[in-house]
Amino acid sequence: MLEQTLTRIEKDMREAPDKGLVANYIPELAGVDPNQFAMSICLADGQQISCGDSTTDFSLQSVSKAFTLAMALGRFGNGLWKRVGREPTSNAFNSVVDLELAGGRPPNPFVNAGAIVVTDALLAGRSPKETLAEIVQFVKAAIGDEKIYINHEMARSENITGHRNWSLAHFLKSADNLEHECDLTLGTYFHQCAIEVNCQQLARAGRFLAGLSSDDDMIAKRHVCSINALMMTCGHYNGSGEFAYRVGFPGKSGVSGGILAIVPGTASIAVWAPGLNSFGNSMLGTIALEQLSRTMGWSVF
Ligand code: DON
Repeated sequence: MLEQTLTRIEKDMREAPDKGLVANYIPELAGVDPNQFAMSICLADGQQISCGDSTTDFSLQSVSKAFTLAMALGRFGNGLWKRVGREPTSNAFNSVVDLELAGGRPPNPFVNAGAIVVTDALLAGRSPKETLAEIVQFVKAAIGDEKIYINHEMARSENITGHRNWSLAHFLKSADNLEHECDLTLGTYFHQCAIEVNCQQLARAGRFLAGLSSDDDMIAKRHVCSINALMMTCGHYNGSGEFAYRVGFPGKSGVSGGILAIVPGTASIAVWAPGLNSFGNSMLGTIALEQLSRTMGWSVF
């Protein structure tokens, strides 16, 4: 049943007349072919079912924020919330106004300002190189110890063109909510966003968030619950309500067109389709998850 569902979804997505627009504010993403589509699902019995371009690599971008949040909760627990909130926002993922209104405390760890604060927290007592190695190691362990790498050209291009993130970092610094120099924190953040995986690897990496991983050491169960709650309420930025309404389970999107979605206790799902909707979330990825959820009855509600 699931295999047939994936075959039908892939066909529908390949035939979709509107595939959305690839991100153009990161030069390395602007040239990606929007006609690519992949989905991969890990199930509780250990099976993995995939379709489409599921071995093609793409950068994690904001999907990385789910992993860095997991690491930061593991290391700092509730202390993290002194520096970042847990509320959704109706402003865009790279909003500056949110930050100013809240006196430099980002609304949640998934908007860019919040994720920059999380990365800054992870840098405590470590160099950027060590922190990045830890992040890569965490994602690798979640996947099941496969080789993954950082697309340095992607990170470099964001470093040069990511003026919005620079402004967020400087604002955070002025509000006393950045412990390291802007270039150290942002350099680390840009590289974490440039970690490349394929859809099959991303679905495996999400198993600990679905409670499917045999590796109980990734993070404590209470943190898994917290991260899923935040993915549900904030994982798609100001499109989170729409995603929850249409899909009905938690997800974290990235501007490269990847989404990691979690059906607690049942499935870890990765989808990748580079064209985005107006909120900066994968257009076909969302439609594909909506179809999957409806067919399988996977809404958590
Ligand atoms: O910081 C940025 O703007 C990107 N590296 C990541 C943003 C992103 O993925 C937004 N998600 N849809």
